[in-house]
Amino acid sequence: MEKREELYSGKAKSVFTTDNPDLMVMLFRDDTSAFDGKKIEQLDRKGKVNNQFNAFIMQTLSAAGIPTHFEKLLSDRESLVKRLEMMPVECVVRNFAAGSICRRLGIEEGLELNPPTFEMFLKNDALGDPMINESHIATFGWANLEQVEEAKRLTFKANEVLKKLFDDAGLLLVDYKLEFGLFKGQVVLGDEFSPDGCRLWDKATRTKMDKDRFRQGLGGVIEAYEEVGRRLGIDFDQP
Ligand code: C5P
Repeated sequence: MEKREELYSGKAKSVFTTDNPDLMVMLFRDDTSAFDGKKIEQLDRKGKVNNQFNAFIMQTLSAAGIPTHFEKLLSDRESLVKRLEMMPVECVVRNFAAGSICRRLGIEEGLELNPPTFEMFLKNDALGDPMINESHIATFGWANLEQVEEAKRLTFKANEVLKKLFDDAGLLLVDYKLEFGLFKGQVVLGDEFSPDGCRLWDKATRTKMDKDRFRQGLGGVIEAYEEVGRRLGIDFDQP
């Protein structure tokens, strides 16, 4: 496999084409951003930690029957992934109230949400990723509704797997965001799963162990990511 030119560079990752049109290299950088890119910092070791973290979670989800784009780790900061045609939609499941749902609906942070909520957001930085529903998707033709339904099913299936995984590690999976795309007609999980895109609280103390430490200026951001990884049994010195 040969890495070729940069295809796209986002806020925290870059993707490169390869000599195989079905595969891409995903590079996890140390850049950390919040508030639609208004707060940006380089956090030492983040690219490496998130690359390993994502590999572990994607492999766990794949073993549970959720198709993912992850192929293999290539280096500290790089993974080989399938090239998907991404849906411009973020799928969010919340098990506890935190973040935007508290602001939008006046819900107290920490309230257990039963059943968990499901929300979709349009991937559009200029608009600040607004919340959307199936009706908007159909009207504006942003995606195929059957495929969106499948993405929703897979997002909830991931919740069952991940809630248990984190619970066993003494952590509450508060919420998370997944992105899906199409590979040869199949709906496949893309992007990444790391503490950048979910909320994780220590079960006993409710200490925040995710990107909220960066958003809220709490410090110890990567140390918290590493602690979560250590509890999951991730070896950050691989490969
Ligand atoms: O901000 P909000 O509370 O809606 O975020 C819900 C979940 O989705 C959080 O875990 C957050 O980290 C994640 N998210 C994300 N990327 C975004 C928006 C939210 O990873 N653009």
